[in-house]
Amino acid sequence: MQKSKILITCARGIPPFLKDELLALGFPVLSEAVAGVETEGTLDDAQKLNLFLRTAHRVLLVLKEFEANDADALYRELSSIAWEELIPADGYVCVTSSVETPAIRDTRFASLRCKDAVVDRIKEKRGTRPDSGPERGRSVVHLYWKDSRCTVYLDTSGESLSRRGYRKIPLAAPMQETLAAAVVLATGWQGKGSFVNPMCGSGTLAIEAALIALGRAPGSLRGNFGFMHVPGYNEALWQELREDARKRSKKELSGRIIATDIDPDAIEAAKKNAATAGVEHRVEFAVCDFSETPVPEGGGVVIMNPEYGERMGEAAQLETVYKGIGDFLKQKCGGYTGYVFTGSPTLAKRVSLKPKRSIPFWNSGIECRLLEYELYEGSRKNLDKGTGRQGDKG
Ligand SMILES: C[S@@+](CC[C@H](N)C(=O)[O-])C[C@H]1O[C@@H](n2cnc3c(N)ncnc32)[C@H](O)[C@@H]1O
Repeated sequence: MQKSKILITCARGIPPFLKDELLALGFPVLSEAVAGVETEGTLDDAQKLNLFLRTAHRVLLVLKEFEANDADALYRELSSIAWEELIPADGYVCVTSSVETPAIRDTRFASLRCKDAVVDRIKEKRGTRPDSGPERGRSVVHLYWKDSRCTVYLDTSGESLSRRGYRKIPLAAPMQETLAAAVVLATGWQGKGSFVNPMCGSGTLAIEAALIALGRAPGSLRGNFGFMHVPGYNEALWQELREDARKRSKKELSGRIIATDIDPDAIEAAKKNAATAGVEHRVEFAVCDFSETPVPEGGGVVIMNPEYGERMGEAAQLETVYKGIGDFLKQKCGGYTGYVFTGSPTLAKRVSLKPKRSIPFWNSGIECRLLEYELYEGSRKNLDKGTGRQGDKG
């Protein structure tokens, strides 16, 4: 297949991290949008992107760009694409769309016409038409139609890449895997020093930190991608890429990863998730109050994602929690860089430390901040002398 433009979608706030990832993998950055970055490459390149990108949601390969002012024009343009080379006649296709055009009243009609064009063409060329429906587990086509401008993509990811496949146990308010990866990348932690994650919930931050520090390819945890349903896809290349990634990944970590939570069910779920991700021996889990989390000597990153709920009665209780987080960072984490990820600027003030940086992210539609605090060694040394404690705490 020829080289074409590739749109990589992601959550708001993520493009700067996605851009860094693309450049590190040797791909150009052609343009940047609120929730995506554009690059270029072939279907083979798309395999590489699906395997290695940590912060992306979907890798969309541009098949055709054209003008359409009504649904008939859309059908005509789409009928000229060689769908029979992209989708098996006995396969299954899902059409997703983002439509904002005066050309049609019901946007669902655009997806329907797109689906018709695809299956009619395959029936004409191969004698059989593929099934279609909402499942994204096989072939996925994405239609973008804004005013009279259309772009049609092959979604080479299928299911979103945020579904790494390791989070099996549902738990309240988990962070998306791709967001957690971007947050870890924002801290700059690459395995040097310790990564301490009190209030770990289902363990997403700690698991992503382990995958990053070990250099494990996030896509190697998944067995199904959209590109695998293209007839005759380069399976040998996929095996080679995976094998290369496996050889290059590290076997051991120099720093420690510690993840704790007050809820035993959360730790149980986090342990199972870490096992599915293949990093259960790299993360030290414990059930405890955040303030009792062991903080090893030697510095590193300490990161917390406390609740920032807005329900009545919660605020006062959370104010105490955030004040406690500030005390914990000041008193026990000297020599570390501290981070608090929260969607509440009011609660963040209760930490009572001046953030050195405030990095914007979006979590489930809420604007959040990753607040960075520099925690000086001196205060901890003095405190240790005062209390007679040394080494690990907790
Ligand atoms: C927003 S969730 C963290 C979600 C996590 N980032 C994930 O991806 O699953 C907040 C967590 O803080 C925990 N928590 C609340 N109060 C705590 C306390 N005092 N000490 C330790 N953990 C606490 C809750 O049990 C919950 O799992």
